[in-house]
Formats: sequence, structure tokens, C-alpha cells
Amino acid sequence: MTKYLIEGGHPLHGTIEISGAKNAAVPIIPAALLVDGVCRIENVPQISDVTLILQILRELGADVRTINRTTVEIDCSHIRNRQVPYELARKIRASYYLVGALLGRFGWAEVPLPGGCNLGGRPIDQHIKGFVAMGAEVDVRNGLIYAQVPGRGCLAGGQVYLDIVSVGATMNIMLAAVLAEGKTELSGAATEPEIMDLVCVLQKMGAIISVDVDRTFRIEGVKELQGYTHTSLTDRIEAASWASAALATHGDIFVKGATQPEMMTFLNVFRKIGGEFDITDKGIRFWHPGGDLKPVAIETDVHPGFMTDWQQPLVVALTQANGLSIVHETVYENRFGFTKPLVEMGATIQLYRECLGSLPCRFRQRNYKHSAVIFGPTPLTGRDIDVPDLRGGFSHLIAALAAKGPSNVQGISLIDRGYADFRGKLEALGADFD
Ligand code: EPZ
Repeated sequence: MTKYLIEGGHPLHGTIEISGAKNAAVPIIPAALLVDGVCRIENVPQISDVTLILQILRELGADVRTINRTTVEIDCSHIRNRQVPYELARKIRASYYLVGALLGRFGWAEVPLPGGCNLGGRPIDQHIKGFVAMGAEVDVRNGLIYAQVPGRGCLAGGQVYLDIVSVGATMNIMLAAVLAEGKTELSGAATEPEIMDLVCVLQKMGAIISVDVDRTFRIEGVKELQGYTHTSLTDRIEAASWASAALATHGDIFVKGATQPEMMTFLNVFRKIGGEFDITDKGIRFWHPGGDLKPVAIETDVHPGFMTDWQQPLVVALTQANGLSIVHETVYENRFGFTKPLVEMGATIQLYRECLGSLPCRFRQRNYKHSAVIFGPTPLTGRDIDVPDLRGGFSHLIAALAAKGPSNVQGISLIDRGYADFRGKLEALGADFD
């Protein structure tokens, strides 16, 4: 099923349960490569990115057992192949974590360049810089990353400073460093909750990792690690996506599993716009209280800032706020492509090359349309939409649910990459779709 016919204009009402965080699961699963022994992960999201990464591990020789819907056990005691299958790895971004894990464990990795959403160039130079600082030789050619430790077979601790705060590079370098000889100092790192979830896993495995207030991780290499049991944190991007859907459709959604600490920054913005929420031990209820929504100015940033992955669904809700909202995207140079179909549905959104905000931004004076001004409220009208990428696609889904009239949304399978059973969840919320 790759196409939905949505009849919009109905508020979403009800309860849904969010899954484990995609961006925590996809590094935690490859971390199993670091040990001989069983690693048990609970609250694993049932999404296609996870299916793919588990399939890659199987092809490498791992014993992957599905215990129940959301629990897997992985045993990498008998890895026989270290060449990551090209077709599988190219389909996802997270395949780059296999470089860190294989290099750390075996001193050798051959991994296709990652795929993932088109949000700009998305280079991996900072990952490579880290591996090289730990003594690896890395060569990228013919679509493959070849990494190896010459001679000794084991990485050596090193000093790494990230020029760009990168979630992926932070976790990848960590995966490589835990078994390295000596200490690694990783500064300029990211500290997203998903990264701290990986740190928890690595600590359970026997690693020694500390983090300073200035975002420097210190990793003391150990000789070996052991299996672990871990329950992954829930998906704060999925939670914010449903919260935005509640606002855009004048709805009321209890998001079971949503947690306050990881969502604090989002909750502040949600409240400023005029959305209501109620936090309980089981989750967070988000609703539109009626009346006008207020415009807001936000800038995306690394944690604890406003996540870039939150901005796309929220922009749809901002089309319904009364006045001018501004979104300055400082993480990706090209994350506003999804606004074009929104404009075709009736939204008024103007994109700018200038930085419309005060955060330091790498895209200043460069030719990227990375600021958006949204003028609302504008009624949205249903239309045919081709899903461009994961979060942009979910945003289009929200727009179609909020719009008057039918929308034909194509390429729905892209949304499966990151939102578990969203069809079942849409049904639970009373969405009118086929
Ligand atoms: C992770 O991507 C997430 N993906 C993204 O989620 C998320 O948007 C992003 O972090 C930021 O939070 C996964 O965890 C699998 P980055 P990642 O390295 O690690 C530049 C979603 O929809 N950069 O933090 O690839 C890069 O181009 C996705 O779930 C370099 O220049 O992001 C980007 O502009 C989309 N060189 C910025 O840094 C590098 O070596 C941040 O990227 C690495 C990154």
C-alpha cells in the first residue's frame, strides 16, 4: 500500500502509543557487533529502517531473534562476513554506524555510502575525521567506505574535535572508541537523548564513557565488552509529529509513551502557539483548545535546542496560526522543500536565503533557502501529493488530514521508515482515509 486517499477536515481524537526511538535503535542495534554474546533490546520500533539494519546484521552472520513484536536478541559471536551488502545499506542513513562498530571490533570495515532523506549534502567527513584520529586509514571510492587499522588491528584512542555538531559522527566515533587502546577525547560533540541512550547501552556493555558540560565525551577504551539488556527510549520525533497533528486538525490526542524531559523545548513552543498539553506518567495529551493559534519564531538547533525533525510537522500547524511565524533552520541547508505542496494546498510560506534568527548559522551568506516565513491562518485544500522524505511526508499527511476535501498521498512507504503502524494509529484517531 503506497497510496492513501485522505478525506481531510476532521479533527483527530483518541489515544495512540508511540514506539521506541528510531534514531536510538539504529545505532544501538549495530552496537551488538562489538561483543560476543547476546544483546537484548526492548521497545524496538517496527519500522523499515530497523528491519533493514537487522537484515544487514543477519547477512554479516549475526543470529537475530525476534522475541516479540518489539523485542529482539542479537548475537554477533559468529560474524563471518564484514562486507556490508550494498543494496541494503544504500537504503538507509544509519548504515554508517556499521563502520564505527566493525572498525572498533575487527579493525576493518567495508560499508556502502549511506542513503537517507535528501536534506542537503549530508557529508560524513566528521565521522571519517574521527576514525582517522584513532589511527584508521579511510578511503571512499566507488560508493564504498573502506576503513582499516593498518598493522595492529586495533584502534588507538585519539583527540577528535568535531567542526560541525553531528549526531551521527558523535555516535559513530563512540562505537569505534569503546574498544580502542587508550583514551579518546571527543569534543564539539552532540548530546541528544538518543546519544545518551547509546551511552547507557555502552556502559551496560562495560564501556567507560563520561561527558563534560562543554559537550566533550571521554571514552576510556576497554579490552572487551559483554551483552546487555536495554529498553530503548521512546520516539520524541514521533510524539511531536502527533502533537502537531492534533494542533493542525483542531484535535485532541493522548500520546502514550511521550516523555517530558526529552520534549521540554517542544512543549514550550507548543504552549507559546496556544496548544494545550497535560503531562502524566503514561504520556502527554496534546490538544487544540479552540480560538486562534499564535504565531511563533523558532530556530532549529542541536540538543537542547528545537530539533530540526520537529520543524516540518509543526510548520503545518503554523499555517493555521494567526499572524507571521518564522522558522530558521540551522541544521540542514535544504529542509524546506516540503513546503511547496503546502503552498499548493493554500498555505502562504515564503522561503529566504537570509538567516531570520540570531543563532550562529553555517548557512549565512550562502545560497540556501533555509529560513521560512509562514503567514496564517490559511485554509488548506486537499490535492495530490508525492511524499518527498520521511518527516516531510508525515507533514504532508498532517496537511491532508487538516485540509478540506480529498488528497491523494502517494509514496506512503517512505513514512514506514520512521513511523511504526501509522495506519493503525490514524484509524485509532478517527482519520477518514483509504
Ligand atoms: C541524525 O542524522 C538523524 N538520523 C536525523 O534524523 C536528524 O535530523 C539529525 O541527526 C539531526 O538531529 C539518524 O539518527 C539516523 P547530523 P545525522 O550528522 O546524524 C552536517 C530523521 O528524519 N554534517 O547531526 O546524519 C550534516 O550535513 C532524520 O529521523 C557534516 O557536514 O545528522 C547536517 O547539515 C533526518 N559532516 C548537520 O551536520 C558530517 O560528517 C547535522 O547532521 C556529519 C554531518
